[in-house]
Parts: sequence; C-alpha cells; structure tokens
Amino acid sequence: MKTLDDAPFLDFFSEEFQADPPAAIDAVRSQSWLARTPIGGLVLGRAEVQALLADRRLRSSIPDIVHLQGVTDGELHDRVTSSIIAVEGEDHTRLRKLVSRAFTPRAIERHRPDMGATLGALLAPVADTGACDFMAAVAEHYPIEVMCHLLGVPDEDHEDFARWNRAITWALSFDLASHRDEVEWGMRQMTAYVDGLMAERRRRPQDDLVTSLLAAREADDRLSEDEIQSMIASLLFAGYDTTRNQLGLAMWLFATEPDQWEILRADPSLAPRAVEEVMRFRGAVGVAPRTVAEDFDYQGYHLAAGTLLSLSTSAANHAPEAYMEPMRFDITVEREPHLTFGGGPHFCLGASLARAEMQEALPVLAEAMPGLRLDGEPTWRPPLGIFGPETLPIAWDPAT
Ligand code: HEM
Repeated sequence: MKTLDDAPFLDFFSEEFQADPPAAIDAVRSQSWLARTPIGGLVLGRAEVQALLADRRLRSSIPDIVHLQGVTDGELHDRVTSSIIAVEGEDHTRLRKLVSRAFTPRAIERHRPDMGATLGALLAPVADTGACDFMAAVAEHYPIEVMCHLLGVPDEDHEDFARWNRAITWALSFDLASHRDEVEWGMRQMTAYVDGLMAERRRRPQDDLVTSLLAAREADDRLSEDEIQSMIASLLFAGYDTTRNQLGLAMWLFATEPDQWEILRADPSLAPRAVEEVMRFRGAVGVAPRTVAEDFDYQGYHLAAGTLLSLSTSAANHAPEAYMEPMRFDITVEREPHLTFGGGPHFCLGASLARAEMQEALPVLAEAMPGLRLDGEPTWRPPLGIFGPETLPIAWDPAT
C-alpha cells in the first residue's frame, strides 16, 4: 500500500501551476489520481473527487485552516467553526434541513426579475462609455445587492452592509491572521445590524429571508437567534466572493473568446448552458478542502488521519474520460455536469441562487456589450482559495 509520500509532486505555488492550473494538473493526472503538494494531497481523478466529496471519513478542513492561522478561540473562532460549511454529522444535517427550503430552485425563481433589474441599474452609468473595470463597476456590487434584496435589507443600508461583508470575507481565506481585526469589526457591525433586522421582522414579518429564517422549523426544532446570525454571515461569505469572481471569470472568458460571446448575443436562451460551461471551464472555486478524519485505505493509498486532502473539482471538470475536448470552452456543447458547486453533504446551498444570478446577468450584459474585448491586462487574485480577476478592464462598442 502506498502513502501520500509516494504520490507524484505538484507544486501549487510554482509559476507553471499558477499560469494554467488545468494544464499543470493534466500533466500529472495520467500517473496517479492523487498528487502530493506543499500542503497535503490533491485528488485529481474525477471518480475519486466525486466519491470522496460524499465520504464521511473526511471532514471539512475549515476548522484546521482557522487553527493553522493562530485563531484558536474567541467569537470569530466560534462563529467560523460552528458555521454550516465547517460542521459535520448530525449538527450539519440539522442546520441544512432548517435552511434548505429557502434555497430551492422554486424559492429562488421569483427573484429573477429583480436580478435582471439590479444588473441593468449597475450597468446604466457605464453602458454608453464603452469601457470599464468590470469588477469595480458591476461584479463587486451585484451579488451583494441581490443578497440584500433577498434578506430584506433596505436600499439605504446596502453600502454599509457591503462594507461589513467585504471585511468578513477574509474569514475563510488563507489571509485571516493578517485581517483578523477587520473581520472582527465587520462581524460586530453586521451582528448589531442583523439583531435590529430580526427584532423588526418579529414585530412585522415580511416576505424575505430573515423572516423565513425566523420561522424555519423542522418538527419541534428551530434556529436560535445566534444560529440565524451565524447563518446569515455564512450565506454572505459563501455567496458573495464566489459569485463576484465567477462573474468576473465569465466576462474574462467571453472577452477572450469573442465568437462565443457572439453566439450568446444571438441566442440569449443559451445563458444557462453558458453559465455551466463557464463554471466547468474556470470555476471560481477549484477545490473542496477536506481533512482525513480516520485512517483508511483507498484506491491503493493509505490515508492517515489528519492529512489535508484538497478535492480538485477543477481537475474533475477537465477529466478526459467525462468531456470531449475538455480544454475547449464551448457554450454550444451539452456536457456532463461540472463539480464547481461541490457534492455530497456540503453541496453548495446557494447553487440555484448563483445559477439564477448569472443566468439573468449574462443576457443583459451580452445585449449591452457588442464587440466585448479586453482593454488591458486583468490582474488576478492568488490561485489558492476563491479565484478570479481583481481588476478586469473591458471595452465594447456602445449602442449609438
Ligand atoms: C458561483 C458561485 C458559487 C460557487 C462557485 C460556490 C461553490 C461552493 C462550493 C464548492 C461549496 C462546497 C464547499 C465544500 O464542500 O467544502 C459551497 C458551499 C456552500 N455555498 Fe456556495 N458557491 C457559490 C455561490 C453561493 C451562493 C450565492 C450562496 C448563498 C446563498 C452560497 C452558499 C453556500 C453555503 C451556505 C455553502 C455550505 C453548504 C454546506 O456546508 O452545507 N454559495 N459553495
């Protein structure tokens, strides 16, 4: 039986890997389904990624990542390590049951008109100029605006809410230690605000997510106020950074593949397939981080308890056995489902929401931006963690 030490080495941090992760992975995948990296193992095989996402012998690595950065107690620690994305077993099943009804495709459907209108309003100030930094003008604001509408946060408070949320986003990054004060400040502000919102909704229930979370019940069980606070913070940090980066990656891809943009402009009904292909080809999330909870043997390797295993959904999305021409971006081809929303018990709770947000956004953007192209080099976030452009200068031919 082999151990992780016997697996081929893949350096996440090398320039070669950073320039094109799917290509670097491709070079190793034919040798082994498992690679060794500077921080544990990277699972490359599609079948193995799918099976291990659902395997209860692995658990979320979020508590380990938080501990590794020196955050071992206090409110921030407790909030992150008790969040839905970090807990396992019965605690996880319970939380998931209580909130999942608010995120079914049907529950999300009725918010679609609002999404298109929100995107249109963000685009209006730049539409006629023919150029913008897409991240600053649109991607930065769109998911948080949609989430504020869903939660029932009044328009005049959106900017404050967005600022606190941007601070909290660091909680799930590898830079948590250096942003700890900022995260704690954002959490305090957000907690005080959400307390007020909950009190208000108890007095006067509305048709919004805060009211649904207050009312959510399973048999005799319900969420405590603290759990609602925690859930709202989780929804925000799981839903904001991911969607803004995924939308940025979509626009970067289309700006570099003008034929595909023209296909979408000519037939906006292709938007759902375009979203799936963007997410397959370049997911904003490329791995699901797991820790081996108990020693076990799997597919020729002994996996020791405590080992960090990154399940590479990005590698699975380019597996040659599942996709014809996997390295080609093509929104006209019907393909196997991608794994960018993960799988198993932690499958993305907001998948329907994220899909709807992007499916509504792309046709509005395509109509407003004929001749989309890059207007300079984008700058990129570091490849570990949630990935996408930091700045994305684009240009188009505005309607005359
Ligand atoms: C394109 C955008 C998005 C991507 C790529 C994405 C990706 C993911 C992935 C890969 C996971 C699983 C993580 C793991 O197994 O370790 C996840 C979980 C989660 N996502 Fe998303 N997500 C997106 C948007 C959203 C949105 C908009 C929301 C907001 C409602 C959301 C809420 C969540 C929550 C709450 C979890 C944890 C679920 C659980 O642990 O049971 N996500 N997401």
